[in-house]
Amino acid sequence: MKRIITTLLSAALALGALAQKSSTVRLYPEQEGSLISKHIYGQFAEHLGSCIYGGIWVGEESEIPNYMGYRTDVLEALKELSIPNLRWPGGCFADEYHWMDGIGPREQRPKMVNNNWGGTVEDNSFGTHEFLNLCELLGCEPYISGNVGSGSVEELAKWVEYMTSDGDSPMANLRRKNGRDKAWKVKFLGVGNESWGCGGSMRPEYYSDLYRRYQTYCRNYDGNRLFKIASGASDYDYNWTEVLMKNAARNMNGLSLHYYTVRGWNGSKGSATEFDTDDYYWTLGKALEIEDVIQKHIAIMDKYDPQKRVGLMVDEWGTWFDVEPGTNPGHLFQQNTMRDALVAALSLNVFHKYTDRIRMTNIAQIVNVLQSMILTRGPQMVLTPTYYVFSMYKVHQDATHLPLDVLCDRMTIRERSVPVVSATASKDSAGKVHISLANILADQEQTVTVDLGGLKAKGAQGEILSAGSIFAYNSFDEPQRVGLAPYKEAKMVDGKLVCRIPAASVVTLELK
Ligand code: AHR
Repeated sequence: MKRIITTLLSAALALGALAQKSSTVRLYPEQEGSLISKHIYGQFAEHLGSCIYGGIWVGEESEIPNYMGYRTDVLEALKELSIPNLRWPGGCFADEYHWMDGIGPREQRPKMVNNNWGGTVEDNSFGTHEFLNLCELLGCEPYISGNVGSGSVEELAKWVEYMTSDGDSPMANLRRKNGRDKAWKVKFLGVGNESWGCGGSMRPEYYSDLYRRYQTYCRNYDGNRLFKIASGASDYDYNWTEVLMKNAARNMNGLSLHYYTVRGWNGSKGSATEFDTDDYYWTLGKALEIEDVIQKHIAIMDKYDPQKRVGLMVDEWGTWFDVEPGTNPGHLFQQNTMRDALVAALSLNVFHKYTDRIRMTNIAQIVNVLQSMILTRGPQMVLTPTYYVFSMYKVHQDATHLPLDVLCDRMTIRERSVPVVSATASKDSAGKVHISLANILADQEQTVTVDLGGLKAKGAQGEILSAGSIFAYNSFDEPQRVGLAPYKEAKMVDGKLVCRIPAASVVTLELK
């Protein structure tokens, strides 16, 4: 009932507040921006709940169809996303993970308790080989998150040697004994995770020294070149970035940042599916606040690194709601609605604007945890609305960003004000221009007119993610409720592209 009343109220407010339901996007194709690194589309897989076990890995003996232990349905769906990099094994888990527990014959691997996530027993059956082989199957770069909080310098140094050395060295020989002759290529190496919190409760002064020490012994073996990433700030902790940049910028290639779209860390974070339109706009406003946060961290980085050599790596982002009723609170299993899809589109649109500094982002997490691409229940699998945003946005990977302005109304609810349209555009290496448009309004269709800024086009074709409701999601009982459809509503009028976009929908178009 509350939802119905609030929905009606918000709809009435929207009708009153908006003199017209038309918005304009103006492209500036002549001012080509920087390359949108494909690594902006990175993913994150932690030993948390059923992300790895049950979600990705079921083991060769499982009745769930699998390829060498990886579930086939998930593997195939993930291949479709052209994932550029995958971060593993955590998260908080990374700073309690001892990689040697996860190599050798599986039946001989020791068990441990996953203290961070529900006290679940971890049998280490998914370890270094299983992860790096998965990356090979997905065609993505591995992003290893190393243990600084409870691991030694020697342990991390040996892990790098085990994975990447092709020489006649002790760790390379141990890897060979375990069945892998050729070294893997590992580019991204995180030196600790959330070292201010679950990764060791450190002060930035102490961590920056520790970072410098640990990274010294992570060597570049046999043509493998590590891109070293220091553990960065949470949200609004600008002092962390300041101290790290001041003390260790020259020893790092990237500095991370974590930002979750969450309603506070104490008490209820709100349901992923049971919300009202006020909550919807609040959530999108919180997601968009990342732009201000990014700008402030970048301003600090610019002070110490004006050449923009060090990348800002937003290696955890996404929505964080209450877990689904009846599931383990430590497993962070949440549903994923059209609201999440809008959060994904809006966040990616923001990242595209700062790719001269942002070199990577990783949505949290890939399967069954927080804002996932995929949810599984036993042998069942559903693709989430967020999955479809990542699918339609693939065209922006490694394309050149085209700056644009959005002229539209704003929706103001409680302390948050959000524009009713969000957009991004890029030109790929073949010269094709892609434009993504989101109608943020929960209840109203909009006409969005795109001024192409001199680009010549006869029309545009693409895909739309639209479900007629911000509350729509794919459940195990109705797995096809939300999905992509061809979009045919774009028309050229007086040299401009005019698009009718239903409420709460995302469109990606290719100019023809
Ligand atoms: O993604 C879930 C957790 O959020 C990660 O383990 C941690 O790094 C962050 O606090």
